[in-house]
Amino acid sequence: DARLVIAIDGPSGSGKSSVSKAVARKLGAAYLDTGAMYRAITYSVLADGTDLDDAAAVAQAVRDAKLSISVDPDAELVVIGETDVTEAIREPRISEQVSAVATNLDARAELVRRQQEIIAANTRIVAEGRDITTVVAPDADARILLTASEEARLRRRGLQLGGTQNDAQLATQVLARDAKDSTVVNFTQAADGVMTVDSSDLDFEQTIAAVLDAVDTAT
Ligand code: C5P
Repeated sequence: DARLVIAIDGPSGSGKSSVSKAVARKLGAAYLDTGAMYRAITYSVLADGTDLDDAAAVAQAVRDAKLSISVDPDAELVVIGETDVTEAIREPRISEQVSAVATNLDARAELVRRQQEIIAANTRIVAEGRDITTVVAPDADARILLTASEEARLRRRGLQLGGTQNDAQLATQVLARDAKDSTVVNFTQAADGVMTVDSSDLDFEQTIAAVLDAVDTAT
């Protein structure tokens, strides 16, 4: 098969991960969840008792991290050091604190470098995150920004605005994380040459079809 690199960015709740994974399966490609790498570092820094606000210490922790991530779309596995953190990195406490790693520019530089290595090592790969179309793989064969209205994003997370207090808190957290992440990466507007797929009014299968269409157009 010819080399194929597909870059997909988008905000939380855009359906990015499940859509990217499904697209990878359809194309017989590998799948890289770059957010999982930021989450794994956050887990490890918290476990070590390192202060997340100590930028130099966090940057050093990233450089020292023994991080391995599966690129099989059917076998999610994230290991840091000797610890399988596949499940733990999805905990709310990680989502709440991951932006501290994401806004650390030295930490980003090291993770971008590792992501580029993983992409280079795979003939066909779908990589998703916040800066894949712009920083990690600006030369990708297809570059897609997957967006969705705020309402659709919150709905997909099972949230109802005006619902329970807990839902409102969760909504605030999702939006606050995007706001923090936006200070270092722009995933709200498509960069030059990046195609936008708006999934607000599309179901899961329709979104996959729209992304595959965009890939066809670009390649
Ligand atoms: O995609 P996910 O929500 O799992 O990403 C977790 C966090 O990792 C994001 O909120 C963001 O802070 C960070 N991230 C990033 N750049 C990427 C992917 C994720 O800054 N390419």
